[in-house]
Amino acid sequence: MRLLKGLILVGFAFAASGAAAQTVKIGFITSYSGLNGNLGPYMERAVRLYIKQHQHELPPGVKIELITRDDTGPNPDKAKQLAQELIVRERVDLLAGVIFTPNALAIAPLATEAKVPFVIMNAGTSVISTRSPYIVRTSFTLWQSSYPLGQWASKKFKTAYTLVSDFGPGHDAEQAFSRSFTEGGGKVVASVRVPLQNPDFAAYLQRVKDARPDALMVFIPAGKTATAVMKNFSDLGLDKAGIRLIGPGDITTEEELPNMGDVALGATTVFHWSAAGDRPANKAFIAAWKKEYGANETPNFLSVGSWDGTALIFEAIKQQKGRLDPDRTMEIFKRWKFADSPRGPISIDPETRDIIQPEYLREVRRVNGQLANVELEMLAAAVKDPWKELQKKK
Ligand code: PHB
Repeated sequence: MRLLKGLILVGFAFAASGAAAQTVKIGFITSYSGLNGNLGPYMERAVRLYIKQHQHELPPGVKIELITRDDTGPNPDKAKQLAQELIVRERVDLLAGVIFTPNALAIAPLATEAKVPFVIMNAGTSVISTRSPYIVRTSFTLWQSSYPLGQWASKKFKTAYTLVSDFGPGHDAEQAFSRSFTEGGGKVVASVRVPLQNPDFAAYLQRVKDARPDALMVFIPAGKTATAVMKNFSDLGLDKAGIRLIGPGDITTEEELPNMGDVALGATTVFHWSAAGDRPANKAFIAAWKKEYGANETPNFLSVGSWDGTALIFEAIKQQKGRLDPDRTMEIFKRWKFADSPRGPISIDPETRDIIQPEYLREVRRVNGQLANVELEMLAAAVKDPWKELQKKK
């Protein structure tokens, strides 16, 4: 009898602790190998740093488990297989991460089918968020940067040439820029789409030089490819020929600036964030990063999308005390506003589940001996995805 009583008591204790202890599982997919395999850690580090700094805000007993997977670069089949495993075997509450558009598109139907909210922390093609009601995006769209870039450029230049990677975000950058540049009175003299992997930039850039446009608008995925563009741009003397290099901020991502060197000076970009931004929340973010990962380390825009995405996830966990219902989670996501983002105040557009954010005009300059994306002016404080805004008007 005494033994039985004891067992019952133990049982109660277990039940009680079981009710309190709650683990939220996040399936985190990004690239640790393949094209831009160096960028995955910029995302994961941001998620881990946010969790470390903020876990004391979680309801008592609630823990977060981050399960990371390598999609090996732009590889939709691999991304789909990983998402499937995370959903079925690991029973994750949320999916997050993803650098490349083709991978995000491959995961979208699984998020819908399994009702697993999917927080996109990078992939930037506009259409992605229309592919599942369980997608929310905390990064950007290429339209958000390239459309205002075209507006600005049309006041400075008469002619422009566009060169983009031949996949979703490249097509968006080309279309967004061409549309606003043309509407502003500029003329796009030629548009070229180059292979995503290992394009022969020298050949393409020689043709640009021969066409003598006032400006060359480039989008290629952030990272080493951007450095290859810069080197060829200067080796072939496009800068000396008076051609200005412009683009969305992907082409001057912070961790590549030291590899680019002085050829990057003067490159003008539009983007939602820069490490050089002097907002207090940004300064605190950069300082926390350096403290955690080393004085010579700098976060990039993929880190910012991941940092804010984790803040978004925290909101859903806090409001639901660690027990996530997918539909309730999406409702919380849609109402989210965040004053403390390193980029300035941001929110989620409840209609599209895309981010609303500021866009800055930036120029690469030397600051204290190092290259930086200096923010020259804020072009707009709360930019919705222009592609979806234009669709609405149709
Ligand atoms: C994307 O695949 O959506 C993508 C990749 C790299 C970037 C931006 C967007 O820099």
